[in-house]
Amino acid sequence: MIQIMKAKHLHLGVLASGRGSNFDAICRAIERNDLDAEISILISDHPDSAAVEKAAQRGIETFAFSPGDYSGRDEYEKILVERLHQKGVDILVMAGYMRLVGKRLLEAFENRVLNIHPALLPSFPGLHAQRQAVDYGVKFSGCTVHIVDEGMDTGPIIKQAVVPVYDYDDEDSLAARIIIEEHNIYWQSLQLFAEGRIYIDKNKVYVK
Ligand code: GRF
Repeated sequence: MIQIMKAKHLHLGVLASGRGSNFDAICRAIERNDLDAEISILISDHPDSAAVEKAAQRGIETFAFSPGDYSGRDEYEKILVERLHQKGVDILVMAGYMRLVGKRLLEAFENRVLNIHPALLPSFPGLHAQRQAVDYGVKFSGCTVHIVDEGMDTGPIIKQAVVPVYDYDDEDSLAARIIIEEHNIYWQSLQLFAEGRIYIDKNKVYVK
């Protein structure tokens, strides 16, 4: 069993493509002193996204890029790794980053790239997880914070939260219930890293 990192004030790099509500919730946890961290940089593959706007409003450094300007993922991830190392980032937080991360980022941040997914993994990976849950007819769904590996929404699970699914739910009403929990379990998971409490053995995370 290995400890992923010793207790420390975390320097976070956030990757976001869209509206940035998880990014915002992490910022608020830091401001309340619930999370011993700072956001060193927000990176987005959508220069016009609300996430970039929100970071700029908070005075957080941003780096926005258009993947189409590069020959491929490896080329832009090389630049991202350089920026993240320059900023002394400890943990890379995917907060609605709508791309798979490649080998270059995963090797540079082994066991330290996190993602949040709006379903109880391993159920309903991929897009429209809330719609998948409603269509399947599950009675409970929720959200999952996990360590990222090369798969789509796979990798060791750190924390999950459960919400009920009602007969009258549609994708939007379920998403609204789940996002409330997302905004709690992401910063709580990060705080476990800050406290040096996250250990990993094979494919399982243990919180000490
Ligand atoms: C969240 O539902 C998250 O679980 C998923 O993408 C969505 C991002 O929302 N990975 P936001 O940009 O954080 O508001």
